[in-house]
Amino acid sequence: LKEWMSTAKSDDMPEQPIVLGFSQLGTESAWRMANTSSVREAAKESGISLVFKNAEQSQEKQFEAVREFIRMKVDVIAIAPVVESGWEDTLREAKLAGIPIVILDRFVNVEDTSLFVTTIGSDFHEEGVKAGKYLLDKMRNRPGPIRIAELQGTAGSTPSIRRGEGFRSMIGENGDMIITQSAPADFTESKGKEVMKEFLKAPAEKRPHVLFAHNDEMAIGAIEAIEEAGLTPGKDIAILSVDGSRRALQLLAEGKLDAVVECNPLQGPLLMQAAKEIMAGRTLPKRMVPPEDIFTQERAAKEVGRRKF
Ligand code: AHR
Repeated sequence: LKEWMSTAKSDDMPEQPIVLGFSQLGTESAWRMANTSSVREAAKESGISLVFKNAEQSQEKQFEAVREFIRMKVDVIAIAPVVESGWEDTLREAKLAGIPIVILDRFVNVEDTSLFVTTIGSDFHEEGVKAGKYLLDKMRNRPGPIRIAELQGTAGSTPSIRRGEGFRSMIGENGDMIITQSAPADFTESKGKEVMKEFLKAPAEKRPHVLFAHNDEMAIGAIEAIEEAGLTPGKDIAILSVDGSRRALQLLAEGKLDAVVECNPLQGPLLMQAAKEIMAGRTLPKRMVPPEDIFTQERAAKEVGRRKF
């Protein structure tokens, strides 16, 4: 990826500022806000003129945004799609209009992959695998059954689907680990709290030992629900989440979370680079994945001050 980025030359970029239409899916999390800021700042720094539309979790609004970008004849369209399915017709309209599409953050599930130029985003399956591996290691000496509750993200969204699959692919190897409760909580703190409250209504002998939350906001909401139920997060229930926001790392350092798998929202520079490359007629890799890690309690205290979101 680095090699590819370093091949970009500024002297053969077009004179006119590139116009980039970006359909962002919403504002549900600190991750999302950081993703939006990263795109806005990188556009400014690269001299790219950004037309930004917030879809507020509505795929219909994303379709409308793309149609508007087509009417405006923007040079490149970027979409962070709220869900994976249902994109064929809209992407085809853009292709027929000759406007290249970049898929950012999440994916689209389309048979014809020529409908987009490239996708820039995390390996969500691997994030689920990392959470599962961490749990297997943490519980290696503990006799089963270990009951796991799962707070999924938005139903039908790539991170929710793939994180769930990756996690299951790991814990499936150990018959002692069972997902006993699982429900979508839309990647938001309020819904995470609400669904966790429901989970905790189970009788004590069925209560989860572990919570896997597909993002930090839902984990934070769940921590509130756990504390309100008179239980101690990190002690009575081990908690894993994904993203790595400052608030989550603070809770990790305090021992209320057990591990946070990193998901990197700072995708703006890569998106601008891609837009420039496309306009310069270069071929891009079909998929670009930023490197990511996992934060443990030991690392959290050091990292928390450095977090950008
Ligand atoms: O698509 C990335 C996910 O979306 C992040 O994990 C989550 O916080 C956001 O809502």
